[in-house]
This record gives sequence, structure tokens and C-alpha cells, in this order.
Amino acid sequence: MTEKWTIGSAVSELTAAFDAMGLDTPRLDARILVGHAVKLEPSLLFARADRVFTDEESLLIRSFAARRQKHEPVSRIIGSRGFWGMDFVLTPDTLDPRADTETLVAAVLDLRTASATPRILDLGTGTGCILLAILKDWPQATGIGIDINPGAVKAAADNAARLGFAARAVFQKGSWADGIGETFDIIVSNPPYIAATELPGLAPEVTRFDPKLALVGGTDGLAAYRALIPSVRRRLAPKGRLFLEIGARQAEPVAGLLTAGGFRLRGQHRDLNGVVRCLEAISA
Ligand SMILES: C[S@@+](CC[C@H](N)C(=O)[O-])C[C@H]1O[C@@H](n2cnc3c(N)ncnc32)[C@H](O)[C@@H]1O
Repeated sequence: MTEKWTIGSAVSELTAAFDAMGLDTPRLDARILVGHAVKLEPSLLFARADRVFTDEESLLIRSFAARRQKHEPVSRIIGSRGFWGMDFVLTPDTLDPRADTETLVAAVLDLRTASATPRILDLGTGTGCILLAILKDWPQATGIGIDINPGAVKAAADNAARLGFAARAVFQKGSWADGIGETFDIIVSNPPYIAATELPGLAPEVTRFDPKLALVGGTDGLAAYRALIPSVRRRLAPKGRLFLEIGARQAEPVAGLLTAGGFRLRGQHRDLNGVVRCLEAISA
């Protein structure tokens, strides 16, 4: 490293180091990490390129760089992920929310009407990102988020409180909808859907840092749907809708599980790459 480490030289050095190890977005990663260390928006770094780091900032950025070089995602290093225009704090118990999941949020929000006051159930809530994104843009909606991992339940409740949704969302521990007595107008879930056999082939950013409980859906990736679909059968209000995120190539098998479980497929929603990412169902 250079003697006088400036914002500009740090961005260049980190970019080169990340590029050399083959990371996908080396410059972007470097800019976000340097910006986080010096508490500046990445877009302001260029204007302050000559600013010399304090010793404290140098230590911090070195530790960020070392973590990124061990494949820790930038979001985990800075501690949060932007989703639907809000920042969700991540913990080791939560999945790092994926942009593709916004497909499901958009599909739910298409149902909005001025008079509807829907009750929403979010199964496998993680950071709470799906439920809270829906509540953000549907002010009359309220809901419950469930997760089997108590650490995720706490993280979601903390996110709800910090983002100002504590009065409209509660989070509790549970296994899918088992033990829930209420019925809901909208049930949503992004369950773990990776086949155990596919896990070793995924990026280290995923396998080392996302909780296995949030990723793996049994040997074929469908185990969570097999458990979840029967559990929500009696929890959907008569005109209610069920929205399930799915992985690539899972539309057909999950549609089959929905039909066998007493639901009728009502729609398929594609992500920005044109892949069917979300199935929408109603009671048959
Ligand atoms: C793919 S992550 C989705 C997290 C979050 N909803 C999102 O979209 O970012 C799946 C979540 O399901 C939870 N989960 C796994 N098994 C569960 C079960 N039996 N009941 C409830 N939640 C479960 C995991 O802990 C994890 O938080």
C-alpha cells in the first residue's frame, strides 16, 4: 500500500486487487467499501479523491478489503442491503435479499385498491424485506412475518421498528403456517429452494455467508414447497391470493404441488431477465 493512502489511491488499489481475484464488479465494490469507511456516498468519492485517510480509516478499509478478498459480500461488510428503496440490516441469520424477489413484491402490489385493508402473511420472512416492502407501498395493509430461525425473527422485528413499521407488522417464530389460526388475504413466501446437490456449485459469497436454512430446500429443492403448501391451505381467505417465489425451472413442479394441494394457478410473474420467478395461486 502507498505511504499516503488517499480516497483515490484506495479505490484504485482495492479495484485492482478485486479484479485480480476475478470478482464481478471490482470497481463498484471498491467504491462502496471506501465510501462506507469514510462515510461518503460513492458518487462523492471522485470529488474528494485527494483526501488522505486517517489511521483509523486506513485500518477499517484494510479490514473491509481483507473480508471482501475472502468473498464476503459487500452488503454483509457494510451490514445492510437496499431492497424496495429501504435499507435492511443483515445478520448471520438472514438471507441477503435478492433483487429478483422484488418481482413478487410488485406482483402483490398490483392488487392494490384504495379501499382494501389486506392482512398479509409472510412465511420465511428473513430480514422481513417482502412484508415490509408491501407495507411501504400499501399503507392500509398489516401483516405477520414467520421464520423458523429466532435470529431472523429478531432481525425482521428490528428492521420493522427501525423503518417505522412496528405498529403494522409483527414477527414470530414458527414453521410455515403451522399453528397460525387466522386467515389472510395475501400469503407470500420466498422459501429455501436450492437443491442440496446444487449448493456446492454456488458462489462462495452465497455458500459461506447466507444461512443454509435460508438456501436449501432438501435434495431436490422442493421440500419447503411440499411442507408449506398444505400448511397454508386453510389460512387463505376465500378470495385470497398465494404468491410463491420459485427458482429457475421450478414453475412446473411447484405448479403441480399447488394443484395437488387444492390451489389453482392464477398467474406467473417474470423477473427482469424474463425468468418465471413467482407463481400466483388462489384456492381451487
Ligand atoms: C430464501 S430465505 C427468504 C428470506 C426473505 N423472505 C427474503 O426473501 O429475503 C427463506 C427463509 O425461510 C426460513 N425458513 C426455513 N425453513 C422454515 C420453516 N420450516 N418455517 C418458516 N421459515 C423457514 C429461513 O430461515 C429463511 O429466513
